Amino acid sequence: MRVFKTLTARLVLSHLAVSIVSISLMATFAGRYLFQAVIAEAEHNLQGLAVAAGNAIELPIEDLRAGRATPRYIKDLLARLFADIEDLQFTVFTVTGTAIADSSDTLPNVATSSNAPEVLTALESELGRGISIRPDLQGKSYMYIAVLVNRDIEVTGILRVGIPMESTLAGARRTLWILIGAAAVIASMVGVVGWVLARNLARPIRVLTQATKQMEQGDLSVRVRPTGPEEMRRLTEAFNRMASRLQSNVNELRAFVANASHELRTPLTVVKLRTEALQQGAMEEPEVANRFVAEIETEIDRLVRMVNDLLDLSRMEAGLDSNQRITLSLSTIAREVYEAYKIRAARAGINLSLDIEPGLPEVHVNEDQIRRVFFNLVENAIKFTPPEGQVEMLLRPGPTGESVRFLVRDTGPGIAPEHMPHVFERFYRADTNQSRQGTMRGSGLGLAIAKSIVESHAGEIGVSSQVGSGTTFWADLPANA
Ligand SMILES: Nc1ncnc2c1ncn2[C@@H]1O[C@H](COP(=O)(O)OP(=O)(O)OP(=O)(O)O)[C@@H](O)[C@H]1O
Ligand SMILES: [Mg+2]
Repeated sequence: MRVFKTLTARLVLSHLAVSIVSISLMATFAGRYLFQAVIAEAEHNLQGLAVAAGNAIELPIEDLRAGRATPRYIKDLLARLFADIEDLQFTVFTVTGTAIADSSDTLPNVATSSNAPEVLTALESELGRGISIRPDLQGKSYMYIAVLVNRDIEVTGILRVGIPMESTLAGARRTLWILIGAAAVIASMVGVVGWVLARNLARPIRVLTQATKQMEQGDLSVRVRPTGPEEMRRLTEAFNRMASRLQSNVNELRAFVANASHELRTPLTVVKLRTEALQQGAMEEPEVANRFVAEIETEIDRLVRMVNDLLDLSRMEAGLDSNQRITLSLSTIAREVYEAYKIRAARAGINLSLDIEPGLPEVHVNEDQIRRVFFNLVENAIKFTPPEGQVEMLLRPGPTGESVRFLVRDTGPGIAPEHMPHVFERFYRADTNQSRQGTMRGSGLGLAIAKSIVESHAGEIGVSSQVGSGTTFWADLPANA
């Protein structure tokens, strides 16, 4: 049944089960103890009575045997002695089992009475006493005690006294019921406590379940206020963190898709417009046609580059490029990149220099990827620095000494502080310089790729800049231990 699977039901039921079991055990043991105690006390009292009465009839029995007294005398004596005790039965036997006197007016059937267990035990036991609890002739529960009556060392008779046990036992039974009743009250209180506890525990779980459903339906803004026991609070806090993380990831993804579509649309629109123009007659004028075809080619190149960059980025983010690492000196890559850009820089009127501090440790890297980082940083510096400017490539020890730092310092326009936190984001371009538009226009993926590569090497990338005087990008790569 489904309802028994809920936390509340389980907790309440287990509390109840434990209390019911303990109450039953308690009732059993307490009951047994109670009855034993009551019986022991009754036995003690009865024995006192019987011994005293036995002493009292010692002489009368002797007189009876000598013919100086009648059985009636003995009966009256005992009746007087026991006058205060209701429903008491007594019988006096001779040693041979003949009844001499009895509390009832008719003398009991000798055969059954003198064979009663208490009488037999009294005759056999050393103490000369026997006790038994059994129904009397009317079927009521009685406790009987038989004591021997002695004259010197000779046994002269047997006295049996019985008291009704019904009321004594009923008293014990009543006490036991009161005990069980109290225990039942405690059990139900325990059940209530279990229920309150379970509800307190279940409430935050219900709230969390509700929030999870809301998330499932696409509402990522749900947060839950942590309540309840410590463990639940921690779970709730973890849930909230997860929700925030998910929300920001989804937002990032949405922005990315919007940016990517926007970036892809621009060149596609150019291609479309130029193609249309060619179809509508521009083909006739070879000069215009050539220009349009060249433009189409440039845009397609840019598209190809952008798509490749995006593919590389997602591959790197999925961690697919982490193998193929070799141990090398970064100076090799730095020199290669320097050689590759020297002429281009000179053509742009920029002085490109390379300075490598000797004795730097080697690094363990994917050579192609690190070359790409260096390319991107140097290319940016050359791209954004106006003629007559300076671009310096530097290799230095890292700040902790356990890494190597590559720096690219330029004398370009710098990056405004409001753009600084975003330059490593995909598609982000701080550059608004119109003269850089056209073939020089980038897609804003270069630094995102560089960051992704450096971080996948457990390195760090950063930038410092002063508007108007220049920018320095740096990348730290851990030294090969
Ligand atoms: N050396 C620099 N000086 C000034 N601004 C820079 C410099 N390097 C990068 N930036 C700014 O940071 C932005 C992001 O650079 P990033 O390399 O990611 O993109 P991009 O060069 O515009 O395009 P892509 O690298 O994809 O061709 C640039 O658009 C530019 O605004
Ligand atoms: Mg770039």
